[in-house]
Amino acid sequence: MKLAANRTDEFYMRCALELAANGRECSPNPRVGCVIARGGGIIGRGWHKKCGGPHAEVEALRDAGGDIEGADVYVTLEPCSHYGRTPPCADMLAERRPKRVIAALTDPNPKVAGRGLKKLRNAGIEVETGVLEEECRWMNRGFLRRMALGRPWVTLKVAASLDGMVALPNGESRWITGAEARKRTHGMRAENDALLTGVGTVVADDPRMTVRDAPGRSPVRALLDRTLRTPPTAKILDGGAVIFTLADASQERGEALESAGASIVRVASGEDFLPEVLKELCGRGVNYLMVEAGPAVASSFIKEKLCDELALFIAPKIIGNGKSFAGLAEFAKIEDAPRVKDVKYTKCGDDLLIRGVFECSPDL
Ligand SMILES: NC(=O)c1ccc[n+]([C@@H]2O[C@H](COP(=O)([O-])OP(=O)(O)OC[C@H]3O[C@@H](n4cnc5c(N)ncnc54)[C@H](OP(=O)(O)O)[C@@H]3O)[C@@H](O)[C@H]2O)c1
Repeated sequence: MKLAANRTDEFYMRCALELAANGRECSPNPRVGCVIARGGGIIGRGWHKKCGGPHAEVEALRDAGGDIEGADVYVTLEPCSHYGRTPPCADMLAERRPKRVIAALTDPNPKVAGRGLKKLRNAGIEVETGVLEEECRWMNRGFLRRMALGRPWVTLKVAASLDGMVALPNGESRWITGAEARKRTHGMRAENDALLTGVGTVVADDPRMTVRDAPGRSPVRALLDRTLRTPPTAKILDGGAVIFTLADASQERGEALESAGASIVRVASGEDFLPEVLKELCGRGVNYLMVEAGPAVASSFIKEKLCDELALFIAPKIIGNGKSFAGLAEFAKIEDAPRVKDVKYTKCGDDLLIRGVFECSPDL
């Protein structure tokens, strides 16, 4: 039964959410935080740090010293009910006899899907759901997207001038935005599981696409190159990158790129190229993907309605004749033009960061 959340429940669930946010490297698993409260205070805290590592509930139980009898357990996602890399958290909690388990969301993973909560109820433990549900859905938008649609949460990141240009007509684009925006970009990269660009950007800019100016690991690098024209000397290959190409692209060039550190994924259908790429990335456990590409790839993502979020840095510069970031997307009517909602504006040095969710992005 879904009960009205009281303020205490919301307070502890917010603490659990803050803990969950630390789990940036736990994909393909969801980001989960857990707080155990008893006698008006917190006795245990935990979050899921890495796939294969202990779940948030186990960490919080450890932190509480093992005794959680009569306590309230706040967890941002339903405790698991199945044996995966770790034993079921629902069984572990049921044995420890807390009074209540408050889960913000039921787990959409078909292996769980309400079974964890059922186990707890069957063991006589009070169960509540729905506390800060919307915030918890947002926290796990990548996991939820992957579970519901078989593709990651896609953020399109662009650095443009006041007039929406990302490069001069000759392709020169470095640097449109300032140092602070570039540093922020590195932080955003570290929050994603994979970064994707197009071969046009590799040929023009030879980017490394790594995290250098922020804490965190470098995500998987993915490159769209339907005819394998990436130079084997490209910096993006250094340390490994996945190149998505068409089934009939040259074997010989594929081998040369593999020797240079690439892994080649051949996609059968040219028509469904992007959806197939996203499906493949999903299969590799990518919950969050950031697209940092030129106008051709960015326009395709926009036209095909495959972007969930926009992160647009605008520099106070006018480029005039140049390459517009979505210049290859064309719409017959103004009402067909994609809109972005829930927009937030942040100053970033002299630049402006505009972030929002595409209206065409399916509900979480
Ligand atoms: N300011 C910024 O935010 C920013 C970011 C990145 C790049 N840039 C600038 O953008 C310019 C490069 O633009 P670009 O448009 O050539 O680069 P791009 O979008 O990164 O790459 C385009 C290439 O990707 C390949 N591709 C594979 N699948 C595709 C698909 N579904 N849709 C579209 N293209 C696909 C195509 O080559 P094949 O047909 O051979 O596969 C296409 O020519 C450079 O000047 C660079 O500096 C600016």
